[in-house]
Amino acid sequence: MPLKPLIDADTIADRVADLGRAITHDFLGKDLVIVAVLKGSYVFAADLARHIDLDVAVEFLGVRSYGDQQESSGVVQITTDLSTSIEGKHVILVEDIVDTGLTISYLHENLATRQPASLKIASLLHKPARTRVPVDIDYLGFTVDDVFIVGYGLDYAQKFRNLPYLAVVTDEDA
Ligand code: IMP
Repeated sequence: MPLKPLIDADTIADRVADLGRAITHDFLGKDLVIVAVLKGSYVFAADLARHIDLDVAVEFLGVRSYGDQQESSGVVQITTDLSTSIEGKHVILVEDIVDTGLTISYLHENLATRQPASLKIASLLHKPARTRVPVDIDYLGFTVDDVFIVGYGLDYAQKFRNLPYLAVVTDEDA
């Protein structure tokens, strides 16, 4: 599968450090929980957490989205739920990419019913060209064009999550 490099590892690291600093500043003195949406955000969440200079709890949400490889249907099933209550806590939902916005808006609505003290969204990537549900992303890494991206946690058919940089899947032969 031909890949074209899009954002290199150093650029990602600098941006994730910026986001970590902003979160540290915004949540000083507060009880913070970051909720990583599996599987795509596992690399971003791990790096982001290490740039947050606060006591931070880490939780995971496993989701299954019905749709084909490159298209989310918006029908989301939670396959692994949080291990603890988030009531009264300050929560940041961490996603790899907001594409149509259907997944994150479903998850945001779901977590909001659990009465957190506050609920914010961090996403490494945003593809505004494909928006179906507008989403306020409080901490955004990069805005990208309407292309299919892999690496740094993002997959194509479960492959390429371990690439240390972000790349575009192209149709061209290499
Ligand atoms: P949405 O519900 O359309 O916003 O899609 C969100 C999910 O679709 C993401 O969490 C990814 O798992 C997947 N996804 C959307 N676009 C891409 C992409 O370019 N590369 C890899 N996964 C993607």
